[in-house]
Amino acid sequence: FPYIPVIAIDGPTASGKGTVAQLVATQLGFHYLDSGALYRLTALSALRNAVALNDEQALAKLAETLQCSFTNGDIFLAGENVTLAIRAEEVGNAASKIAALPALRQALVALQLRFRTAPGLIADGRDMGTVIFPDADLKVFLTASPEARAQRRYKQLIDKGFSANMQDLLKDLNERDARDANRAVAPLKPAEGAYLLDTSNLTVHQAVEQVLGWYADVKKPV
Ligand code: CDP
Ligand code: CDP
Repeated sequence: FPYIPVIAIDGPTASGKGTVAQLVATQLGFHYLDSGALYRLTALSALRNAVALNDEQALAKLAETLQCSFTNGDIFLAGENVTLAIRAEEVGNAASKIAALPALRQALVALQLRFRTAPGLIADGRDMGTVIFPDADLKVFLTASPEARAQRRYKQLIDKGFSANMQDLLKDLNERDARDANRAVAPLKPAEGAYLLDTSNLTVHQAVEQVLGWYADVKKPV
């Protein structure tokens, strides 16, 4: 059967992974996997069903039976449009906590692999290049300074109608970075062979062009 290419984009919160990945996906006509959304969906489901954020088995069960669908940029959980609800900071923080649990991560593996369909996939998250798609054609590790990332997240939250405070955001962001980077399973780190891209002083357009340029260089001839 035909080979299906994958581009893996990993990096810390608000480095621009989602924005860049979606634009690259559109350019290449690829599918897009927002793996963080799966952790957020599981977290939302846990918060709503009063499942404790340290109950590993119950959380793994939730993840395994997650009824989610992705259509035209909208995200549904058991038929309900939760596109906005999963972006709340409370959900992001809960997602980051439960993401440290090995059984929960394992429960989401098969679902993530199923996104790899023709003509290709661009996936963003923390462990796309290291764990889920170690054979990715191109691996990119996006970064930006904590200040630039807090600034970006602030603007995003305000634009979506959430209230936000820069000091709290910077604190949350540093905590989440530390938790993601220091956990025992699938810690946030550049995959072997990943191209590093610091977007602190880049526009979205410049970052997208860089990724497309790298992909053109590594792309396998058909
Ligand atoms: O938007 P932000 O970058 O803060 O987060 P996200 O990509 O939506 O992911 C939410 C949380 O899920 C992160 O803080 C990670 O702890 C976790 N996550 C993960 O562990 N592995 C992934 N592949 C994606 C997200
Ligand atoms: O997915 P991740 O959490 O890494 O970031 P995101 O949700 O894509 O958010 C990044 C935000 O920063 C978006 O509002 C982008 O418009 C903005 N931005 C960027 O992504 N890249 C730049 N080089 C400059 C700004």
